[in-house]
Amino acid sequence: MKHAKAKAPGKLYIAGEYAVVTPGHPAVIIAVDRFISVSLSPSKEYFGKIFSSSISENTLIWKRQNQQIILEAPNKKADIILKTLELTEHFLKEHNILLPYYDIYIKSDLDSVDGIKYGLGSSGAVTVATIHALLKSVNLDSDNEKLFKLAAIVHVSLNKKGSLGDLAAAVYTGWLAYSSPDREWVKHQWNRMGLSSLIDEAWPKLKIESIKAPKSVELLVGWTGHPASTDSFVTSLEGDKDIISYDRFLKDSTTCVSHLIKGIQSDSNKEIKKAINNNRLLLLQMSRSNNFILETPKLTALNQIAKKHGAVAKSSGAGGGDCGIAFVDTRFQKEGIYKDWRANSIEPLSLNMYDKYN
Ligand code: PMV
Ligand code: MG
Repeated sequence: MKHAKAKAPGKLYIAGEYAVVTPGHPAVIIAVDRFISVSLSPSKEYFGKIFSSSISENTLIWKRQNQQIILEAPNKKADIILKTLELTEHFLKEHNILLPYYDIYIKSDLDSVDGIKYGLGSSGAVTVATIHALLKSVNLDSDNEKLFKLAAIVHVSLNKKGSLGDLAAAVYTGWLAYSSPDREWVKHQWNRMGLSSLIDEAWPKLKIESIKAPKSVELLVGWTGHPASTDSFVTSLEGDKDIISYDRFLKDSTTCVSHLIKGIQSDSNKEIKKAINNNRLLLLQMSRSNNFILETPKLTALNQIAKKHGAVAKSSGAGGGDCGIAFVDTRFQKEGIYKDWRANSIEPLSLNMYDKYN
């Protein structure tokens, strides 16, 4: 094992939220230019250390015990990183690679200066960056698909509720059309076969396609200053949703996102804006029929301000706080929107799309 480093970007949902949680229904997601960096170095001790200010002020000590990775002093916030180490080590073992103990340094610029989450997908990015650094540390070749699937298995085995779109964005980067795999199938197979075999299988319903970034619109991001928990929103939808109207929502969302993808591919400003507005309306309607709040008053203000200036906007991701996005055509629109957002305590975030190939 040698010293190794990797970084993975955060993400923003552009359209197709909620519907994408049901396997096979598309969303458009982008990676943004804020990152989590992970660096690893072999340790001479009989334990490893984790340095991560978002998990703990203190250094964490980890050890291997009965095929598991555990902390000397348990800490819930470390669950993702520990599971990531455990499964990646398991994968390496299948390649006859055994690691010594090592130290892990995690640095994140996905959160605000005072540590508040913007909702840019830090748990996905930390998984991807850690797996990538581990594979690099032993010179094991990895491609996007392998990296995504291994990260996906980590999240599925922690019973994460989401579509795993944050992992796709962190691995593939750029603009993506993403449909989630059948996670029940993944779980079932994972109980039957080794990790490498599962990674080599074709996963039902999974689709990750890069789309060329459109030039006819500029993306603005506004932060409402209120973090939201995606897991709790998605869980609330698992219960007694009205199956018939939800089915309609899934169909309408798929049609709308397909139009958006075509609009992006042909770089049609008009099609992109129309699809974004339609997706907002579909999501609002779906949230009302299921009695949850997608647009907080600030997200509604974010949207109305954008509209007033001739742009389109919507919430990004699960809603209930976090970020909203707007698409503008001119610098003039952008300046007007920023000014009015600020006057309503909505913070414009200077984020750009990130594409590792460009
Ligand atoms: O709030 P975010 O940015 O984590 O996005 C969640 C998007 C959902 O479709 C609601 C859930 C998911 O995992 O796809
Ligand atoms: Mg969110």
